[in-house]
Amino acid sequence: MSKASASIVRAVCPKNPGSAADAVRVLPVLDGAVWGAEALGKADAAVLSAWLRKHEFKGEAGEFSWPQGMSAPVLLVGVGAAGGFQSVRWFRGWSAAGKALAKAKVESARVEGALFDRLPEGAPSREVLARLMAEGLGIGSYRFAKLRGGDKAETVAVECVGGDFDEPAVRRAVARGGLVADTVNEMRDAANLPANRFGPAELAEFAKKLAASVPGLSCKVYDVKALRREKAGALLAVGQGSDRPPCLVRLAYKPAKAAKGAKPVALVGKAILFDAGGICLKPAKGMEWMQYDKCGGMAVLAAVVLAARLKLPRPVVAWVPAAENLPGGGAQRPGDIVTARNGKTVEVLNTDAEGRLILADALDFAAEEKPAAIVDVATLTGAVVIALGREASGVMGSDDALLAALDAASAACGERIWRFPMWEEYAKPLKGTFGDLRNMGAPGAAGTIAGGMFLKQFVPDGIPWAHLDIAGTAWNESAVGWGAAGATLSGARLLAAWLEAGD
Ligand code: BES
Ligand code: MN
Ligand code: ZN
Repeated sequence: MSKASASIVRAVCPKNPGSAADAVRVLPVLDGAVWGAEALGKADAAVLSAWLRKHEFKGEAGEFSWPQGMSAPVLLVGVGAAGGFQSVRWFRGWSAAGKALAKAKVESARVEGALFDRLPEGAPSREVLARLMAEGLGIGSYRFAKLRGGDKAETVAVECVGGDFDEPAVRRAVARGGLVADTVNEMRDAANLPANRFGPAELAEFAKKLAASVPGLSCKVYDVKALRREKAGALLAVGQGSDRPPCLVRLAYKPAKAAKGAKPVALVGKAILFDAGGICLKPAKGMEWMQYDKCGGMAVLAAVVLAARLKLPRPVVAWVPAAENLPGGGAQRPGDIVTARNGKTVEVLNTDAEGRLILADALDFAAEEKPAAIVDVATLTGAVVIALGREASGVMGSDDALLAALDAASAACGERIWRFPMWEEYAKPLKGTFGDLRNMGAPGAAGTIAGGMFLKQFVPDGIPWAHLDIAGTAWNESAVGWGAAGATLSGARLLAAWLEAGD
């Protein structure tokens, strides 16, 4: 993982273009207009405009086309429609381009010249656009191919040459975007492993390997013995139905030159390696997707790796509670009352509401270090898919400034988030009959908020906290135009953008 390999996407110095003359040229189309067609030369530009008139290629985000008849191959890629710029569409457009290039087994491609001279209304800076372009190209070209005999995922080298890319700030942005894409893709290769190949122990091993290979990282794993000593009763209760014991991973990034007195930021990620529901067994239909119930944990691990590789100035600590929610003979039962690490007792009304239990203990560990803020990420509720579908993650929290900062990060990276309210009344259904709390609210009523309100009980007042419910965005059940089937690692780029902004 630490190997200093050239990134999939890189900006090339004009003195050293290096790429083959017949590399595919990638041209973005926004609202029917092609950007950067000047770079084609007169004859090709004329062929292209004739082609465009004939084919009415408007450039909806994610649409692409291979127009014919030019002296070198061209890929047109839609990056958005009229009605104002949206970074998610820009990202998806470039992702679709990355995917189309990989699919066509193109080895090298180039983006050329004066790309950003006609910035669309509402567009961010050229640096932000270039960064997202590189992230999209790299992330879109990914496909999980590790477990198919003889199958090798294609990697496309995309070079960004000339024009805007001659500017150091834009080139740096491309380099950072390429690095983000490479890291996200490497982490997806682990997130896509099915439960038989990736249990709590394998996740811990994976985190240790990250710490050994990425400068600035360190890792500590709490095994069952340590968790008992720590009285992490809620995490232990969830894990006790599986033969594969639970654990808690702490992956920390310490900058080489940390700002004086800089408090760390804590990230907490749900890693249920498989969620069968426990004794409250889920129906068989769709249960195979529950291998992706680890994706919150994988996203926060990725965010810490990104913080290290982007050399961010602020320390970051990820806490990842890892367990398997199975209905084995030792499993917890509905009606059991467990004691969480912070001393609160929880009636387990539904063993399938397990994510909030393991997060409860992890949030308590995280809070003990008095971080500047805590953000947790979890595939927590089916209800968020009903509310927002697969277009956005749900977000809620206790601190308006933190939520505003996350909104800004969302606009920069093109991962959509949408806020839910946290009025205290929503906590009422969580009051226990015999214990302090119950692990679910009223069925069918604001399930996503109930999950968030439950977690809130484990974060001390005074620590800004936010919760991201990524159940609708963490994976694609089949390939989409701009991405592969499987883990998306949603949350990772959002957290990286937030940490990078430093507010
Ligand atoms: N991992 C699931 C949530 C989930 C469901 C994620 C579908 C992605 C797709 C979580 O552990 C769960 O089972 N939640 C329950 C909570 C309920 C029992 C209060 C749910 O959403 O049904
Ligand atoms: Mn569950
Ligand atoms: Zn779950």
